[in-house]
Amino acid sequence: MCGIISYAGKRKALPILLEGLYRLEYRGYDSAGVAVVEKNGVVQSVRAVGRVEDLASSLSGVDMHGTVGIAHTRWATHGAPSVANAHPHADCKNSVFVVHNGIIENHNHVRSALLREGHVFSSETDSEVLAHLIERALAGYRKPFFLEDAVSEALRHVEGTFGIAVVSAHDAGKLVVARRGSPLLLGIGDGEFFAASDSAALVRHTRRIVYLDDNELGILSPQGYEVRNFRHKPVAKAIETLVGSLSDAQKGQYEHFMAKEIHEAPDVIRNALRGRVLYHDGTVKIGALDSLAKKSARIERVVIPSCGTSFYAGLAGKYMIEEFAGIPTEVVHASEFRYAPPPLGAHTLVVAISQSGETADTLEAVREAKRKRAPTLAIVNVVGSSIAREAQMGIYNYAGPEIGVASTKAFISQLTVLSLLAVWLGRQHSLSVSTGRSILEELQYLPQKAAVALAAAPRVRELAEIYGAYDNFLYLGRKYNWPTALEGALKLKEISYAHAEGYAAGEMKHGPIALVTDTFPTVVIAPSDSVYEKTISNIQEIKARRGKIIAVATEGNTEIEKLADHILFIPKTIEMLTPILAVIPLQLFAYYVAHKRGCDIDKPRNLAKSVTVE
Ligand code: M6R
Repeated sequence: MCGIISYAGKRKALPILLEGLYRLEYRGYDSAGVAVVEKNGVVQSVRAVGRVEDLASSLSGVDMHGTVGIAHTRWATHGAPSVANAHPHADCKNSVFVVHNGIIENHNHVRSALLREGHVFSSETDSEVLAHLIERALAGYRKPFFLEDAVSEALRHVEGTFGIAVVSAHDAGKLVVARRGSPLLLGIGDGEFFAASDSAALVRHTRRIVYLDDNELGILSPQGYEVRNFRHKPVAKAIETLVGSLSDAQKGQYEHFMAKEIHEAPDVIRNALRGRVLYHDGTVKIGALDSLAKKSARIERVVIPSCGTSFYAGLAGKYMIEEFAGIPTEVVHASEFRYAPPPLGAHTLVVAISQSGETADTLEAVREAKRKRAPTLAIVNVVGSSIAREAQMGIYNYAGPEIGVASTKAFISQLTVLSLLAVWLGRQHSLSVSTGRSILEELQYLPQKAAVALAAAPRVRELAEIYGAYDNFLYLGRKYNWPTALEGALKLKEISYAHAEGYAAGEMKHGPIALVTDTFPTVVIAPSDSVYEKTISNIQEIKARRGKIIAVATEGNTEIEKLADHILFIPKTIEMLTPILAVIPLQLFAYYVAHKRGCDIDKPRNLAKSVTVE
């Protein structure tokens, strides 16, 4: 949610900043801007509404030669998308420029105080107060000489979350960044230094990374970098190495990242399993679980805080853990957990699920769980992300960068990891070796089966041609595939803007059936599992009301052909793993419907890839 890239080095900053913005655009894309400090100390800034390419157009003909600069791509929180509200924000003298991710919660109060002191504001944003606070600190009675001192002083007056990057005509040649609650990392190059909200913007330049922690400040210049806390004390930080290749973050042969990421499903499953299966023992080996092993005999409950797609993965995980480990499991929207946490304690394992590892509510849920002394385990895709570092134990998905705003491969990976967790927890309790083995054996076949499900893409595209103009869809599933129905509906609505509701199939008669008409189709996830017959009854009820049915069913099922208008087949697998295969045609369906409708698939309106504000 909002992207920051900033640079201090010997090269011209502007091309580096623009290239970084393109890589960060998936985090927010309603406006963008840059500010570069020129050799004479003057700071030049250009902002534009729209995409990074709109900013690039606004910059054509503008000469910026400076080697220190900041840039931002915005997802609006306070104030509509406009040039005035775009970052960087400046002080009254156009001397201090700030880009900001997060929310300054007391901005109204601070703004009023600054207005009384004569400061003039030019935007509606919460962020602008930072520029004026730094301006005030620089001009203050004690006259801090260095920009970093002024930034520290300014930050004493704000409440909320921030990742900021600051340049100024005062102390020109220096870039100051700071973090509290919003991600920020430093890239260490050779005589050049970067700071960004996301490693995607850095990987082209350096793999040497320093993760800032909360209440830390980085001071960067072409001469070097230093990290301090807000009390001016130096902090020794480890340099870590980024993994992954640049091509991971490129579309390759695909028109959209989403299509590429859906088609990565077989590899994603393989990567989640690699080195983790102990087939002979019918269990799994994951570093994080070794430390949990000492506690697991006493784990009496599992609570899963998460958001969006990760929440739906958690719902399927609940069924897996309850069925195979017999441990009561509760899945909680992280945004609710934050203010109404369920009872927690040393015997409740809190499993936070997050692709980005930066979702503000999920991060806060982990912190709350730690305060309540519950053991915390994170299932996270982005290595080194805030949630990965905050949780006491972590399992990485290793799914590679997910750039499309609609989460696809992460869901498949999360379900794979959750199935491993269920087996492991089960084996710590009463799950037999043979049942453990049978699950693990089936998991080994899953990549091939996912490839078979993907091969149906042309058929899914045909269906999207038929249904692309419909405005309403109902998605139904039972037991393990209720979460699949929820996820299928979420995918369709977020990228095609068609209205889609996901429901537990058995709930249909309690309300949603009133919606069914011949122009309100229902997508039913009906693999051959323990609840198949019940789901078939629901299909019949819809047919009786002239509703159209698109069914996702198991290969070889000829009965369903008599009932459904259209069928998308998936390979046979064990019940707990059916969501991993069943979601593939649903992801493809959402993709092709959005494609037919001419939607901006990788950057759907109003959304951002990681939600770093609550
Ligand atoms: O990065 P996280 O998994 O924590 O993100 C959670 C949700 O914001 C995310 O899944 C969101 O719902 C996606 N747009 C779904 O496609």
